[in-house]
Amino acid sequence: MSQRQTAHIEEPLSIRERFECYVSPPQLMVKAIYFYILTFFSSPSLFFRDHATFRHKAFGALWARYGAAMSEEMPEGTIPLIATAQGVVLDIGPGSGTQLHLFDPSKVTKVYGVEPAADLIPELIRNAEKAGLGTKYEAIVAGAESISLIPALAKRNLLHNPEKGSTGIFDTIVTIRVLCGVPHNEETAAGLFRLLKPGGRLLVVEHVVQPYPKGGDFIAKRMQQLYMLFGWWYWLGGCCLDRDTEQILRKVAGKDGWKEVNLKFLGRQHAIPYIVGELVKA
Ligand SMILES: C[S@@+](CC[C@H](N)C(=O)[O-])C[C@H]1O[C@@H](n2cnc3c(N)ncnc32)[C@H](O)[C@@H]1O
Repeated sequence: MSQRQTAHIEEPLSIRERFECYVSPPQLMVKAIYFYILTFFSSPSLFFRDHATFRHKAFGALWARYGAAMSEEMPEGTIPLIATAQGVVLDIGPGSGTQLHLFDPSKVTKVYGVEPAADLIPELIRNAEKAGLGTKYEAIVAGAESISLIPALAKRNLLHNPEKGSTGIFDTIVTIRVLCGVPHNEETAAGLFRLLKPGGRLLVVEHVVQPYPKGGDFIAKRMQQLYMLFGWWYWLGGCCLDRDTEQILRKVAGKDGWKEVNLKFLGRQHAIPYIVGELVKA
């Protein structure tokens, strides 16, 4: 397996820049709590009846308000990476579709956008139109976890063998800031790996755990732990700051599952560092 790995040399930040990187997450957490409370007052029965849907609704309300602003600056490499998505694409957790303009409509034949926050779907479809994807984009209200995704794909006749759970369906799977929050992360990642065709590419732009002490930054790592302790995960729709998504993706594919892993690690001194790049299925 050829692996150009995650090493990426970055300029050290000034003290002021480091401080800003450390303390930016709580500002988002306060906004998330505000939308959580608003959602509780608008849909109190949902809170008790279907808590998972309630949390998707609360996160959806936050994202509808701030998603566009939070998509203005993406990690380096995101734009050229997403422009390479081609063929039949599975777009996991597209939110309101603020990244859809990055797709090259001439390269894709069909894009299935799997988004559990149903309230975001109308804006998602509008953004697909604006991005020139039009009828090539199909929004699906479901989660990435197999228990939700597989029946949704079966309904669209996308599975070759619905009883056994099909494999090798998509040329490209795109995950942007979403694997941090999917439930049962290993199982979900394994399900996505199975859905890729041999030679298919998983494109990832994901925030991950600070690798300290194996590189990374001591304070940024502690900040991640602190924010998780204060309920980041709960308020932010299940988002975990401490997920080692690269290791999870490597693990679920097994030793020779990926023929190429080409990921950059960005943000050595950030509380929210990223991996950006592709994994190519053997
Ligand atoms: C931080 S937003 C990112 C949206 C978009 N990918 C972007 O980067 O602009 C995370 C998205 O993942 C969605 N999401 C949450 N749980 C999910 C799940 N289990 N499966 C798929 N998407 C999920 C959320 O509803 C939300 O739209």
